[in-house]
Amino acid sequence: MDKIVILDFGSQYTQLIARRVRECQVYCEIWPYHLKGYDLNSPEIKGIILSGSRYSIGDANAPSLPPQVLESGKPVLGICYGMQLLVSTQGGKVVHAQSQEHGKALLQVIENRGIFENLAGDIVCWMSQGGSVKELPPGFRSIARTENYEYAAIRDETGKIWGVQFHPEVSHTPLGREILSNFLFRICACRPEWTPESIIKEQIQWIRNEVKEEKVVCALSGGVDSVTAAVLTYRAIGEQLTCIFVDNGLLRKGEAEQVFSKMKEILGKERVIYKDAAEQFLSALQGVVDPEEKRKIIGRTFVEVFEEEAKKLGDVSYLLQGTTYPDVIESISIYGPSVRIKTHHNVGGLPEHMQLKVIEPLRFLFKDEVRKLAVELGIPEEIVWRQPFPGPGLAVRIIGEVTEDRLQILRDMDFIIDQELRKSPIYKKLWQSFGVLVPVRSVGVVGDERTYKYVGVLRAVMSEDGMTADWARISYDTMDAIARRVVNEVAGIGRMVYDITSKPPATIEWE
Ligand code: XMP
Repeated sequence: MDKIVILDFGSQYTQLIARRVRECQVYCEIWPYHLKGYDLNSPEIKGIILSGSRYSIGDANAPSLPPQVLESGKPVLGICYGMQLLVSTQGGKVVHAQSQEHGKALLQVIENRGIFENLAGDIVCWMSQGGSVKELPPGFRSIARTENYEYAAIRDETGKIWGVQFHPEVSHTPLGREILSNFLFRICACRPEWTPESIIKEQIQWIRNEVKEEKVVCALSGGVDSVTAAVLTYRAIGEQLTCIFVDNGLLRKGEAEQVFSKMKEILGKERVIYKDAAEQFLSALQGVVDPEEKRKIIGRTFVEVFEEEAKKLGDVSYLLQGTTYPDVIESISIYGPSVRIKTHHNVGGLPEHMQLKVIEPLRFLFKDEVRKLAVELGIPEEIVWRQPFPGPGLAVRIIGEVTEDRLQILRDMDFIIDQELRKSPIYKKLWQSFGVLVPVRSVGVVGDERTYKYVGVLRAVMSEDGMTADWARISYDTMDAIARRVVNEVAGIGRMVYDITSKPPATIEWE
């Protein structure tokens, strides 16, 4: 399959570039800029994109362009820092921008071909800050300018090396997609082969080759990733797969039953084992208030329960995981976040003595691609569009200690929130929406009686990937319906509040 390689020089937009390329149905991978352990010469690689960077040319420790990029002879598109690297390594001059334009600018296209084919006139684009090109290397020319940048886009005379000073991948460059698509199809001659059908076909073959006659076990969480990984693997190896669904007692109302019955329907009842471990989790969590401690305990208990169940299956060789591309990128990126805000990968690994080899058929897919695959595989809508749900579940949505009573209150509140939000057109735009229980009492009055009950929080956010998020502008009517119903119907809640904090500075979850 044709492939584009995106070299990551440490830009916040690298993943976005990859997503845009994939949206054009071209497969791409993000590689670290230094290329150690990677080979650009494989014939399926049709072109290279150099990302931007948080560094500027000339900074101490600024990443450099490995010689293999130009030696490969493949088409290259440098974005911002990527373009400046091309210029400075080829004998041009880059200076620190004094400025000036950062943000929206009008691009005047000088040369209406190549990456600008069919794009006439002025184009709105999102300029990057950092350096700017002062002098072009020999053989290069300017193909677009803005008021402040003479060289807002450039190319070399062979038409193989291209550079842009703006970000075609962000939505603030409305025609950015056309520009990238011109690069992919006109310059790199890629074929649009990255479709759900082709991914399924390829992955099924890959799983069969990898697993052969061995047995595979999968930990089902009920989220779209693990379900898709399971269904795909079932298609590939049928009864060699067994799924274990551990009910940790920390799921939303009705979810355990729903997931289990759907999965039995799809894979057949012999393929799915349900393990009710709610009591074990709850007793391990007794008295624990620290969020990270809760996460650790839940992760550890999960491993114990899962191992116990997996042992009963006999000689299993593989563990199937629904790992997706953002996790893979984070683990290979030399620029990945150095400080973990929360330990999200709570089910990080099974004990070594289990000696299971891991297979991850979704490891090159973004969430939206997993969803497309899921649809193609016939997975029911309610699973495909299920909102992300954290591994530690409701335990991080109850501030402080988790008890059976509090879980019951939160489940009831959360259920009403979900019912009411689903009636609103905003629901499909939400990344996540849920209730949080703050076990602090507040005074109220019902009839002639004073009440003294817990505070419930409504949290609803819009986001592309969970890294940043904005609180959702839910209508007053919907908020009103939620507050009335929760306070009337849920015995433990006396007051509802709406969380109007974005991420950053807040996180999506309350713990
Ligand atoms: P935060 O709260 O960090 O969440 O803004 C970002 C996304 O990650 C999810 N999340 C978790 N997922 N284990 C998980 O599997 C966790 O411990 C965890 N904590 C947060 C959260 O729901 C959101 O989608």
